[in-house]
Amino acid sequence: MDGTIAGLPGAVRHIGRVHHIAVVVRDLEAALALYRDALGLEVSTVLPIPQDRVTIAFLPVGDVKIELVAPTDDTTGVAKFLASRGEGFHHVCFEVDDVSAELTRLVIDGIEVIDTAPRPGAEGPVAFLHPRSCHGVLVELIEAPGGPAWQRLYPDGFVAPDAVG
Ligand code: CO
Repeated sequence: MDGTIAGLPGAVRHIGRVHHIAVVVRDLEAALALYRDALGLEVSTVLPIPQDRVTIAFLPVGDVKIELVAPTDDTTGVAKFLASRGEGFHHVCFEVDDVSAELTRLVIDGIEVIDTAPRPGAEGPVAFLHPRSCHGVLVELIEAPGGPAWQRLYPDGFVAPDAVG
């Protein structure tokens, strides 16, 4: 097992940076009153994602973004999270060069994944790892622009999720 992991290319083991930190909020406008108005962060994106029944906002801070996630109905995992645990930290997202390769390595390593393949996220191909394998933290991976999943998922160029399907 160790030999298998060590035998993979070094790039496969590379975490680029923290891409964003996501916070679940009950009411996006109320949360923007804090993050945008009181703390003075810029809002780069407000994006409804109908298929996930959430609205998100991205607020860049240096090289990282804060992602605010507000459920738009009561049926989603995010809504259930909000109902049971209240507002607060939801997930951390790491940028990697190749989400598929990273998932393969992590599964070999015994990490439980939620997504077995990259899927379209708000800003590119993403996959989630299960909190059970991550010391209670929901971990998202996003592929750096130009990675192999970009070509597969967006053969005609990037499409934001609200424009998909
Ligand atoms: Co995220």
